[in-house]
Amino acid sequence: MAQQQKIRKAVFPVAGLGTRFLPATKAVPKEMLTVVDKPVIQYVVDEAAEAGIEHFVFVTGRGKGVIEDYFDIQYELEQMLRERNKNAELTLLAGLLPVAGTASFTRQQVPLGLGHAVWCARDIVGNEPFAVLLPDMIMAGGKGCLKGMVDLYAESGGNVIAVQECDPDQAHKYGIVGIGAPVGEGFKITQMVEKPAKGTAPSNLYINGRYILQPEIFKILETQERGAGNEIQLTDGMLTLAKAQEFAAYPFKGDTFDCGAKDGFILANLAFALQRADIRPAIEGPMKALLASLK
Ligand code: UTP
Repeated sequence: MAQQQKIRKAVFPVAGLGTRFLPATKAVPKEMLTVVDKPVIQYVVDEAAEAGIEHFVFVTGRGKGVIEDYFDIQYELEQMLRERNKNAELTLLAGLLPVAGTASFTRQQVPLGLGHAVWCARDIVGNEPFAVLLPDMIMAGGKGCLKGMVDLYAESGGNVIAVQECDPDQAHKYGIVGIGAPVGEGFKITQMVEKPAKGTAPSNLYINGRYILQPEIFKILETQERGAGNEIQLTDGMLTLAKAQEFAAYPFKGDTFDCGAKDGFILANLAFALQRADIRPAIEGPMKALLASLK
């Protein structure tokens, strides 16, 4: 097996407008909405850190400055916590802080699409393979999704995308992959189809928002024309890259919550809260009662 270049950097495109979550996202970036007691973006950064990522690249936009503040020291708050002997809270905050110099922030001046947002990270990433994590998709259960992809990449090289089973009736809503020969814990991708017409999907495995890409994608995205939604789409860039390079898929076995949509966000809150020993006893009974009271 060839030695693969380590995946050291991860890109988090956080410049989208979050229109599905208005009015909340008028003043608060959707990545800062809270699942139980942490912003959505923290879950995704934790997943990247678990996978061995050393440098976190955030592609932000106007009104997203609070994300940069969140990943910085809050000096006055910490001073106050020290004065009040709130040591557990201090330890919690310190544990979540990226090591100085390991987080970079660049702006996508106009939200022209996910592909364009990834392209905005080209100088910071440079000429090495890297990960992209959609920060509104959070994963739960089993081995971390990006960790599983990095393990697969060690065997497959090339590009790796994570996929997840969906109800075949819903396949027309997603990017769907075709299944080829097995490799590691996954398989080689034979095709990628964005929103296939009903009944034509090559499988029920949809692309769930995690990618390991080779740096050649940047050159492609530079001249990528606008696609669906009049936006520069990452999927279109990947389709061009797939003509020259291999793509493998990592089938993620846990749950994916789309926190950019209201239903996914509420489900994520319920799922993560029910995992917490300090919260579950207080909500389980009332939740059952609430469900039973519905007509
Ligand atoms: P989405 O389409 O889910 O995000 O893009 P959005 O545009 O913010 O949301 P809606 O549809 O209006 O509610 C997927 C990811 O790509 C980022 C988003 O922040 C999100 O994390 N993105 C999208 C950018 O960074 N820049 C863009 O121009 C578009």
